[in-house]
Amino acid sequence: MSDRTGDQALSLSQQCEADEDIGSNESANPTIGDVIADRFSRRDVVRGALAATVVAGLLPAALADAEPAVAQGARATPSFDFVELAAGTDGNHHVAEGYNADVLIRWGDPVIEEAIGFDPKRQSGPAQAGQFGYNNDFLGYLPLDGRSDHGLLVVNHEYSNQELMFPGRSRLDLDPALAKSSEQQLAGIAKQYGLDASLVKRPARLISRASFESRLEAMTEELVAVEMMAHGGSVIEVKRDEDGKWRVVEGSKYARRITLETDIAVSGPATGHRLMRTKADPDGRSVKGTVNNCAGGVTPWGTWLTCEENFNYYFWGKAARHAHPQGAQLKRYGVPVDAYAWGRFHDRFDIAKEPNEAHRFGWVVEIDPMDPHSKPVKRTALGRFKHEGAGNIVNKDGRFVIYQGDDQRFDYVYKFVTDGKVDAQDRAANKDLLDSGTLFVAKYNADGTGQWLPLRHGEGLLTAANGFDSQGDVVIFARLAADMVGATRMDRPEDIEVNPKTNKVYVMLTNNKRRKDNQVNAANPRARNAFGHIIEMMPKDGDHASQDFTWEILVKCGDPAVGDVGATFNPRTTKNGWFGMPDNCVVDADGRLWVATDGNSPRTTGRNDGIWAMETEGPARGTSKLFFQCPNGAEMCGPMFTPDLETLFVAVQHPGVSVGKPATFENPSTRWPDFTDGMPPRPSVVAITRKGGGKIAG
Ligand code: FEO
Ligand code: CA
Ligand code: CA
Ligand code: CA
Repeated sequence: MSDRTGDQALSLSQQCEADEDIGSNESANPTIGDVIADRFSRRDVVRGALAATVVAGLLPAALADAEPAVAQGARATPSFDFVELAAGTDGNHHVAEGYNADVLIRWGDPVIEEAIGFDPKRQSGPAQAGQFGYNNDFLGYLPLDGRSDHGLLVVNHEYSNQELMFPGRSRLDLDPALAKSSEQQLAGIAKQYGLDASLVKRPARLISRASFESRLEAMTEELVAVEMMAHGGSVIEVKRDEDGKWRVVEGSKYARRITLETDIAVSGPATGHRLMRTKADPDGRSVKGTVNNCAGGVTPWGTWLTCEENFNYYFWGKAARHAHPQGAQLKRYGVPVDAYAWGRFHDRFDIAKEPNEAHRFGWVVEIDPMDPHSKPVKRTALGRFKHEGAGNIVNKDGRFVIYQGDDQRFDYVYKFVTDGKVDAQDRAANKDLLDSGTLFVAKYNADGTGQWLPLRHGEGLLTAANGFDSQGDVVIFARLAADMVGATRMDRPEDIEVNPKTNKVYVMLTNNKRRKDNQVNAANPRARNAFGHIIEMMPKDGDHASQDFTWEILVKCGDPAVGDVGATFNPRTTKNGWFGMPDNCVVDADGRLWVATDGNSPRTTGRNDGIWAMETEGPARGTSKLFFQCPNGAEMCGPMFTPDLETLFVAVQHPGVSVGKPATFENPSTRWPDFTDGMPPRPSVVAITRKGGGKIAG
């Protein structure tokens, strides 16, 4: 999901997070002992000093030799052979020379055979329920018959942008950049927008709140139905034709939409828990739908893990929180936000009317795309928080390990280790593997070591005396359990991926402008961290089940030419090659790291979001190169390769949102990818292939 703290004019959901996402973690964890960045390694110091003075060029040999490079000259991964794209901003997408980047499927395109044709001016819930949803995020590729030119693509649809999806919203859009305006200017603007001048006593925020309320009032039951059907996920069958182009297979038996109406089972420790029971589901075993599906993962047995991130947005009833029996816990999860009007038409999204529904979101959902009639399952053993993704690996002892970020300022990095082993021979034997295991949360020490702290009921402080009566309580309130054990508060953990060739784990920390000087710690060394950083973790002895690891910072992001930023890209990185706000990532079959970003814009970094190829080994470690650039307003999601590395699928999310001035259905910041009058911009999946064939960057 987008970084709502940029100084772009924000969409509704973006603005909501700017208001709400102040970090709900008030535990003292990160500042215990306040270790002031004494983990600046020699390499960091060298790089930082160089980065301040050297924009581009080769690292002097002597310094390169001085680097404590992990691989000591031996390359664990090959390099990237493409010519870097020029960084910039415009309304179209761009890919490095010699590659094709073709739109595969767009919001509104048919998914199921019976889908109604897309008409953005007459969109309806039933129409949307058969069409490709909004804001494509995670992409997973599941080969059919082991093929790299024919498979299933599973796609998350994270959220909806009503200002771009529905006509006639323009008068309700206001620019948060107005925060800097004088009261007099704001009064003038309020008048222009037909808002009561009394609303501008305190600037912009009140204007924006009024704007939200006006927007919410303008939402009809029908528009809400469109929103609810635009969330969730899609399964599509894709095939590469003779001409080398990917196409969606029409009438596929696998085609499926997952929405807020899909029946989803609950499994694991929270199953049937009293806090999971509702009027519609008195047993606490079945939930209608999944929401805010951000990143995810695919398992070796061919299922799709889709992760519920900012589920709090969809709940309604701020005024009711103080009277709610779990009011304190709801606050820790930022529930409710009152950002969507769903609670007006559906009681379950109103916490006053259905106090437990919010506990039924914030999970990882496992779906079997091979069986379109299979019932998805919320795997509660993995804990409940704002799940970003589910990067995973089969550990050397056969157990399955899933790394998970909780994407909020000052929240944590988790992993889940199964009790059982993956059965590579019998797919069905892995059906309930994710229901038993141990959830851990990460603690990063200043000396470059770290521990995974188990969240097990009955151990340490996780007892009835502290409100944890069962493992069900621990997983439902995983954030509070993690607070108790002393985890390290991070700068918004997004995607985490494992390099199976080196066993190193890459953690994208997107930014945290609210970290104060006295809150920095070794793993989050910059106060007001506007551009984020990437941490590399090494499990002890390459054992992903181990409770011990070492870690270091791969790169601190931002413009290396600006000394105050403190970016630490390898000085070989060109002016096109640096980026801010890492978000999604993927490790390809050759063990190379690719980073997708969220929040680069003309105002933040002078470039649009995109995909950067990142060197992780040898003297070039920390060098990145721009491969693909998004159209205006979009963030980059979903990077996923086919096994043969000949195709890179990417998801262009929320193209056309506000960039500097309010964007609407009528006036988006781009009309990508159709560029047709009257057609709004459409989030779409793009297939990148090499002209003439061959591996991407290989
Ligand atoms: Fe949905 Fe953290 O991005
Ligand atoms: Ca993300
Ligand atoms: Ca993000
Ligand atoms: Ca990923």
